[in-house]
Amino acid sequence: MTIGSEDELEKLRHTGRVVAGTMTAMAAALEPGMTTAELDALGRELLARAGARPAPESTYKFPGATCISVSPAIAHGIPGPQVLKAGDLVNIDVSADIDGYYADTGGSFAIPPVAEKTARLCRDGKRALWSGIRVVKSGIPLREIGRAIQSFADKNRYTLIRNLASHGVGAALHEEPGQIPTWYEPNDRRRITEGLVFTIEPFLSTGSHLAVDGDDDWTLFADGGHATVQYEHTMVATRRGAVVLTLG
Ligand code: CO
Ligand code: CO
Repeated sequence: MTIGSEDELEKLRHTGRVVAGTMTAMAAALEPGMTTAELDALGRELLARAGARPAPESTYKFPGATCISVSPAIAHGIPGPQVLKAGDLVNIDVSADIDGYYADTGGSFAIPPVAEKTARLCRDGKRALWSGIRVVKSGIPLREIGRAIQSFADKNRYTLIRNLASHGVGAALHEEPGQIPTWYEPNDRRRITEGLVFTIEPFLSTGSHLAVDGDDDWTLFADGGHATVQYEHTMVATRRGAVVLTLG
């Protein structure tokens, strides 16, 4: 959506805080021995308490309130009987709406003890996200986001998953202007318009290029099984830069 008033901005900020707080609380609860269904139940409870409707469920009939993907899964993992263990790399993605205002956030978290290379990948995944957020400004080409993220990935010898894009959000979970690449697409002629609400969510990988299907209808894996992380924020574009709504 494109924000047209202070009131709309406040409503989106509110949903943004709720999904961010939910993701942070879920990440803090991660513990060996816990199932992903238990983790999802915590997310569902926190969203319900805030009057928020889980967006994967309401939009796509996803079988869970949140997406929980345990490595080697990278996205759209279904909460269930899987038991978390020390060293697991877990992606938690929380999206919801309150009264029709949607926000979306995600992050990857490792359960201690964490290998040094996993810790570095998590730190760099956040840096990749922020390298994209930093260039956001109304008026500039949309492809500058992907260019900045790609340049970060190249410089630090990572790859990016190229079939999972960022997207417009706000009045729906996925909406105009459609997919926003987090890699460089020189032929993308679109510009960032004032008030545009969208996500940035690069999938930074130690070698994979594509998300591939697994055994169920939802869970996605990285081709070749290389360690991959995702960090996601929802933001509004202004003339002065991005206003990030999912900081918590
Ligand atoms: Co998300
Ligand atoms: Co998203």
